[in-house]
Amino acid sequence: MGSDARLIISVFIKNGKGVFEGLKSLVDVGGGTGIVAKAVSNALLELKCSVFDLPHVVEGLEGGNNMNYIGGDMFKSVPSDHVILLKWILHDWSDEDCVKILKKCKEAIPSKENGGKVIVIDIVIDNKKRDNKSFETQLFSDVLMMVHVSGKERNEQEWAKLFSDSGFSHYNISPILGLGPVIEV
Ligand SMILES: C[S@@+](CC[C@H](N)C(=O)[O-])C[C@H]1O[C@@H](n2cnc3c(N)ncnc32)[C@H](O)[C@@H]1O
Repeated sequence: MGSDARLIISVFIKNGKGVFEGLKSLVDVGGGTGIVAKAVSNALLELKCSVFDLPHVVEGLEGGNNMNYIGGDMFKSVPSDHVILLKWILHDWSDEDCVKILKKCKEAIPSKENGGKVIVIDIVIDNKKRDNKSFETQLFSDVLMMVHVSGKERNEQEWAKLFSDSGFSHYNISPILGLGPVIEV
């Protein structure tokens, strides 16, 4: 995941920096050892990043000026902030578990009008890519999620249902990364 994160976030910062611009702080939920948060906080010095992951994952890790680590369980609660990042998290979980996670995220952010949002980086399966290598890769990843964890890859309709079942009113998908677009919820 660390190697993947290093590659993906470098492309993201080059092409999709706008998603983070103007933000003061965010929490990277399931942020692992903080590779994404480090890259984002180095690229956008005014942005304060918290990395939230299971206690044993973040134990002993040291943050920096604009970065810190918080241990906890996203099924119990998520640290409050204006913006929450979920990168390659939701595809690990069933629909039922995703709704639980998204509801905890919604409790942790202010309203849309007050700048609250969840940024989801995950695959959106696109049938129009049927002849495309990236569609095949999306399906391989779906199988991988089924075999390794109890998750799956989702198409736009499935994402929309998860967001509305969790109480969110809007979402927007930007095709910044080939396999993993950015969904702002
Ligand atoms: C697939 S990895 C994604 C890591 C990172 N977001 C990335 O893109 O490189 C999933 C992460 O979720 C974390 N995680 C799993 N269950 C969790 C829980 N209940 N609460 C918080 N984090 C959890 C794992 O420890 C792991 O770091």
